[in-house]
Amino acid sequence: MANNEELFKKIIAHAKEYGFVFPSSEIYDGLGAVYDYGQYGVELKNNIKNYWWKAMVQYHENIVGLDAAIFMHPTVWKASGHVDAFSDPMIDNKDSKKRYRADVLVEEYMSKIEQKIEKEAEKAAARFGESFDREKFMTTHPRVLEYREKRDAIAKRLYSAMDRNDLADMKKLIEDLEIACPVSGSKNWTEVRQFNLMFSTRLGSVSDETNEIYLRPETAQGIFVNFLNVQKTGRMKIPFGIAQIGKAFRNEIVARQFLFRMREFEQMEMQFFVRPGEEMQWYEYWKQERMKWHLGMGIPASKYRFHNHEKLAHYANAAADIEFDFPIGFKEIEGIHSRTDFDLASHEKYSGKKMQYFDTERNEGYVPYVIETSIGLDRTFLAVLSQAYKEEVLEDGSERAVLALPPFLAPIKVAVLPLIKKDGLPEKAREIMDGLKEEFMCFYEEKDTIGRRYRRQDAIGTPYCITIDHQTLQDDTVTIRERDTMHQDRIPVEKVDEIIRKRLLLK
Ligand code: GAP
Repeated sequence: MANNEELFKKIIAHAKEYGFVFPSSEIYDGLGAVYDYGQYGVELKNNIKNYWWKAMVQYHENIVGLDAAIFMHPTVWKASGHVDAFSDPMIDNKDSKKRYRADVLVEEYMSKIEQKIEKEAEKAAARFGESFDREKFMTTHPRVLEYREKRDAIAKRLYSAMDRNDLADMKKLIEDLEIACPVSGSKNWTEVRQFNLMFSTRLGSVSDETNEIYLRPETAQGIFVNFLNVQKTGRMKIPFGIAQIGKAFRNEIVARQFLFRMREFEQMEMQFFVRPGEEMQWYEYWKQERMKWHLGMGIPASKYRFHNHEKLAHYANAAADIEFDFPIGFKEIEGIHSRTDFDLASHEKYSGKKMQYFDTERNEGYVPYVIETSIGLDRTFLAVLSQAYKEEVLEDGSERAVLALPPFLAPIKVAVLPLIKKDGLPEKAREIMDGLKEEFMCFYEEKDTIGRRYRRQDAIGTPYCITIDHQTLQDDTVTIRERDTMHQDRIPVEKVDEIIRKRLLLK
């Protein structure tokens, strides 16, 4: 298999070639970090959304859904802190003219130190074999301790500079660490500056500052401002949650990496309202629940890890990311935040409207605390796609690209293929397809050799192909071919939907 960078390029090319993801406005050479989902992409995306909605809303009696508007009153973003604090510190390299997030440059430097620590541990493990005590090694070996000390000192300085919004110190840190631009190799940097990530536009016809509004940078605020509407009309009792799937927009300055960092993307967020003082137990609960959801897609646990935040966002008292091992390395796919009462209390202050819940069991009113789970739909799509993509050399020496998607996520569940285009086979195939398409997303194709048709279905991840041949006309049996094993069985037509339905339940 190709190295990770090559693999990533192959996945991007495959996604385009097979109708999953296209660059936006491609005929005009595209638009940076904006993508369109094609005919199979939209199916895969919808299946991921359904899986999330089912797990969060359908399976939890105390979680309900919402679909709030993208445009919101501009004061919402003042209250949420986004107008003042939703910005990234950026730095430019004067030689390459490339722009970077200053904190990311330093964090990448820190992860290089962590890789060195890991290498030391691997070497020692190989040397000592079974008797190797990793924990002892990590806490006593002089070189590891030296690396750790260095890393911790950098982290402390970086996060302190960020907390104080001390941009000069961030630049000094980059200089002190002698970080060079990965493109030009030079250390010729500009000052560090803050860029707000929100897109703004004007509401109505008058163009002045008073009617400036924002495209929401997160879906969460739509939930907060509707908290009492939903609580009262749904007669919800704490603890309860509100879930929402929708578009969010961020003017990401450094926007590369395909679906990983986009300017228009989709989030699946849930705010869980709890009693003050009980937030930590719910925070732990949702960390575990969300990890189970990821593993429920059949992806191995080794591809995921938690990353607890050292630097907390302005609204959080605890936060962790679930990271996925993308071809570009372990990176955030979901955030779980204990957001305290920050948002509701702030909306209470800015709107002058009470955001209180009356707890009849305790006989008291309070502003609830909130645990948020926030997952990027596009990043999940990318994780699923990269996990599924495989190149295989078959016994006869030929090659195939296959998407080993969990069947319940596959865009097409069954392809219906008459062996040839005559002798009544297409008519019989259509009849079979009519019996299946009400329940399953089906695909019909009669052109080309059967081998090529199988390959195309492998490439889009279709778990089953049904082939109709002359024998079908005599005894009403078909061959059913399974994508991963390529194994073929002859079965009665009436068994087809039962087999597919059973397989869809498995992850
Ligand atoms: N309401 C909390 C919030 O928005 P976040 O960590 O900024 O938290 C949550 O975003 C998730 O949204 C991330 O874990 C990521 O999966 C996704 N996300 C954020 N920015 C993104 C971008 N530019 N492109 C694609 N996905 C993004």
